[in-house]
Amino acid sequence: MNHILKAYKVTTLNQFLIERQADFPYASGEFTRLLHHIGIAAKIVNRAINKAGLADILGSIGTTNVQGEDQKKLDYIANELFISSIRNSGECCGIASEENDEIVTFDDEMSLDGKYIVCMDPLDGSANLESNVSVGTIFSIYRRISPRGEKATLEDFLQEGQKQVAAGYIIYGSSTMLVYTTGKGVYGFTLDPSIGEFCLSHNKVQTPKSGKIYSVNEGNYNSFPDGVKRFIDYCKVDSPATNRPFSSRYIGSMVSDFHRNLLVGGVFLYPPTKAKPEGKLRLIYECNPIAFLAEQAGGRATTGTKRILEIKPTSLHQRVPLVVGSYTLVKRVEEFMQEVP
Ligand code: AHG
Ligand code: MN
Ligand code: MN
Ligand code: MN
Repeated sequence: MNHILKAYKVTTLNQFLIERQADFPYASGEFTRLLHHIGIAAKIVNRAINKAGLADILGSIGTTNVQGEDQKKLDYIANELFISSIRNSGECCGIASEENDEIVTFDDEMSLDGKYIVCMDPLDGSANLESNVSVGTIFSIYRRISPRGEKATLEDFLQEGQKQVAAGYIIYGSSTMLVYTTGKGVYGFTLDPSIGEFCLSHNKVQTPKSGKIYSVNEGNYNSFPDGVKRFIDYCKVDSPATNRPFSSRYIGSMVSDFHRNLLVGGVFLYPPTKAKPEGKLRLIYECNPIAFLAEQAGGRATTGTKRILEIKPTSLHQRVPLVVGSYTLVKRVEEFMQEVP
């Protein structure tokens, strides 16, 4: 009988946030409130995505964002919902988003006094929405540098990734999960739709040291750097002793590709290409939060030559190449990239 009751023992995200408040930077209730509001937005966006096929919210708006990408209706909806919920927390003085050319600053009295700024990709993998493939949201939180009581400034958002106080993602998948870190391990919560709560399901996630999955858009093979090509060729060699050939898995939503590799072991790459010499992924709201999570889970994240979290951003929508995942696989890619053939 006890084992049946045990199945009903749940720890909700909010309960966990309160119980673990001492783990948070500066142990403040303010920070808890901010994460709580991100959780609320996640549930609302989840509801929108779930019924997207019925509610005429698939497809494009007809506009492009600052990086020239076609904006989907759901890019816009998720962006607005996250901005308004984060603003309602009263703890955040500004947001940088993939879908806004410039930083968004809040000038009501409470927000001006907020200690935190948020960088986010409101909908990651949005090109996949039409085909009902898993998509995500990525967020990253910093302490502001500018004085409290004043408007947030660009400098607040151009901090090195190692200054992040928290980062996480929501994956809208076969189940919806919120995964986050505050620098004390990685925790995953699965949304139980019947009670409308994120419940602790993945306690202190550690990623396997190695793995046999490689995730990369191989269509770009011909324009990858030689070191990346050599790594991809290496993945395909028949070598049972080293678990090769590896398996190729690529969804095209970084959150989903990263999440799978985090749990089962693998490496995700978005290398430079001829068309995109800095790669495609954006440093402050895609690479930094994912790198923070990867390192916290025992993995590694670099550009192939440099640790992601040590890069000083120079602009809001800056792109960098990304190699992230299991420690020894990322190291292997670096060896191939640095070797002189
Ligand atoms: P977003 O939908 O936020 O613009 O991000 C798309 C990104 C990322 O999710 C994914 O890994 C990558 O684009 C896929 O790009 P390719 O189609 O070039 O492989
Ligand atoms: Mn986009
Ligand atoms: Mn993205
Ligand atoms: Mn996006």
